[in-house]
Amino acid sequence: MKVLVATSKPFAKVAVDGIRDIIEKAGFELALLEKYTEKSALLEAAADADAMIIRSDVIDNEVFDAAKKLKIVVRAGAGYDNVDLASATAHGVCVMNTPGQNANAVAELVFGMLVYAVRNFYNGTSGSELLGKKIGIHAFGNVGRNVARIAKGFGMDVYAYDAYCPKDVIEAAGVHAVDNVEDMYRTCQVISLHLPATDETKNSIGKKLVSLMPKNSVLVNSARKEIINEVELITLMQKRDDLKFVTDIQPAANGKFAELFADRFFSTPKKMGAQTSEANINAGLAAANQIVGFINDGCTKFMVNR
Ligand code: 3PG
Repeated sequence: MKVLVATSKPFAKVAVDGIRDIIEKAGFELALLEKYTEKSALLEAAADADAMIIRSDVIDNEVFDAAKKLKIVVRAGAGYDNVDLASATAHGVCVMNTPGQNANAVAELVFGMLVYAVRNFYNGTSGSELLGKKIGIHAFGNVGRNVARIAKGFGMDVYAYDAYCPKDVIEAAGVHAVDNVEDMYRTCQVISLHLPATDETKNSIGKKLVSLMPKNSVLVNSARKEIINEVELITLMQKRDDLKFVTDIQPAANGKFAELFADRFFSTPKKMGAQTSEANINAGLAAANQIVGFINDGCTKFMVNR
């Protein structure tokens, strides 16, 4: 039984060692494909794999066609928009994620980017503080909940909107649950995005919502670039020189944002939210255990293509 770890952005070594330990103790073999740049390398490595652990690596129909023995793919992380679920199902492959395992890492980076933004990107001018400011969390999943917890430590007033999470769950976390998303954008100087990229959410964050934000607001994205309507956001930021946008996922028009809004825009060169050894260990080991549970016991907890 061969388990391939295919990560163009590798895990920390300590996480790979932990994955190897779990896989080898189960009597399976571990293969490692790290930092690959060509898809052909992925296709070649996947050809004899029974199971795969991936991150944001794109697993499309071509990969499923090439991986004739594949039974399970575990996305070590939350978002699985990089996996073609229909093709997986058609090929009889189980797809799982590891929800929550890297959520704290992403949430901490949100505050790293936020402090950087409100302190004017450390340019020496007088900035502002987060204490007492209102933060709106758009989607209250695992990352959103961690953002709420940390925001309270900063003394922020925390709001959340989630179309799929009951209000009482949000309120039980000590967070104001808002009835409609517009109200949250109207109220909060900081909006933190935690939406998955789906047909419903793609391009949904644009003029209609962001234009409602109060003066001197910050939009922070640690989710997916596809949820932002970039054309509308650029136009809006051109009209409103008080708006800042910080993101852990480079927009498609990253160069344009950087050129037009040098003092109001920041993007990490590579998605860094989950790039901590702790998150790598949490998500990587969970992925390895889920593979062993699936192969040995048929456990399908966390399967996302039912
Ligand atoms: C996720 O969906 O879990 C995060 O976006 C992390 O992605 P990464 O594993 O590519 O860093």
